[in-house]
Amino acid sequence: MRVLAAFAFGCVVCSLPLSGQVTVAAKPPMGWNSWNHFAGHVTDADVRSAADSLVSTGMRDAGYVYVNVDDTWEGKRDAQGVLHTNEKFPDMKALGDYIHSKGLKFGIYSSPGAKTCAKYEGSLGHEAQDAKSYAEWGVDYLKYDLCSFQDNMRQAEKEHPDDPSAAKNLMIAAYKKMGDALKATGRPIVYSLCQYGVDQPWKWGPGLGANAWRTTDDIDDSYGRMITIGFSQAGLSKYAGPGHWNDPDMLEIGNGKMTEDEYKTHMSLWVLLASPLLAGNDLTKMSEADKNILMNKEAIAIDQDELGRQGDRLYESGDLDVWTKPLSSGRVAVGLFNRSWSTRDVSVDLGEIGFKSGGSVRDVWTHADLGKRSGRFTSRIPKHGVTLIVVSK
Ligand code: GLA
Repeated sequence: MRVLAAFAFGCVVCSLPLSGQVTVAAKPPMGWNSWNHFAGHVTDADVRSAADSLVSTGMRDAGYVYVNVDDTWEGKRDAQGVLHTNEKFPDMKALGDYIHSKGLKFGIYSSPGAKTCAKYEGSLGHEAQDAKSYAEWGVDYLKYDLCSFQDNMRQAEKEHPDDPSAAKNLMIAAYKKMGDALKATGRPIVYSLCQYGVDQPWKWGPGLGANAWRTTDDIDDSYGRMITIGFSQAGLSKYAGPGHWNDPDMLEIGNGKMTEDEYKTHMSLWVLLASPLLAGNDLTKMSEADKNILMNKEAIAIDQDELGRQGDRLYESGDLDVWTKPLSSGRVAVGLFNRSWSTRDVSVDLGEIGFKSGGSVRDVWTHADLGKRSGRFTSRIPKHGVTLIVVSK
């Protein structure tokens, strides 16, 4: 059974499934997506070598199992309306088989609109047919990107000037249509909405069987954009939980335009947010620093923690920010962030986060036990850097 099928539209606090066992995206999905590095140039060969690299680098064993082909794989529809691939992807079933043969899972991309964002063929009017093709190809994950459906929404606004919800309702119906089509295939497929956070998808996504929804517009490989997105997630934690996750977009770690401290900030924030972790770099060319960030097992364990709770802001003061995420066994992960241009001390009061008699502190980036601490815990943090700790009783 698809998770959360029992949710009704308008569900506000969706932190627990109402019925059934969470079987799809019980934890935030982890893997790789082609867009951030390859964009419209991605080919079958690139995806196969990404799959190979997930295995050879140890990424797969660290949890990164989805291999997701983003936009620009689509070809033309035939006379029966069946969508074929373009010349960059000669055989999707064979690609899916290859990915599965490596112990990985296969993801694909489409749009509820007539066209995708890169102006390839979308699924409008062909939802059931496309879902059937995905299932035949062995697809395990669909990213469904609003794109040209915004034209249909504008049209609905024009046609129903007295109904402020007309466009939104049309969009929700379009997302539901594909959600139902995926369910009808009988194949467990992670359903990930890409809708840029417009119209609060965290409120209606779970009701139509979505397992994740983008909360923002696109990320890029810059510190400014990454922190704008990451730190704007405050207040959303109550909408995430097993089977349904907020998605602040894919990772840029390894794409080369941020410093090591900035990429550590990126990873720390995303794991505190219980975000899907979809690497977006060229996995065939990873530096040791990239590998150490993406495959820091202690950081990944924060993201994937059994409790399935998203973290949130504890306090912010100018360029200094403290976020916490409740973990299983009464532990708490804390991110101390310095967004300023100079080294600064950042503190958290351990009493305030449940450790009145003190707690044992583990530093996730240095892999060091910092011993039993109580009262204020202070860390000296370089510009754009982070200290990520786990506190336990
Ligand atoms: C949108 C999405 C991106 C990517 C592109 C592909 O911009 O937000 O993540 O999928 O489309 O065209």
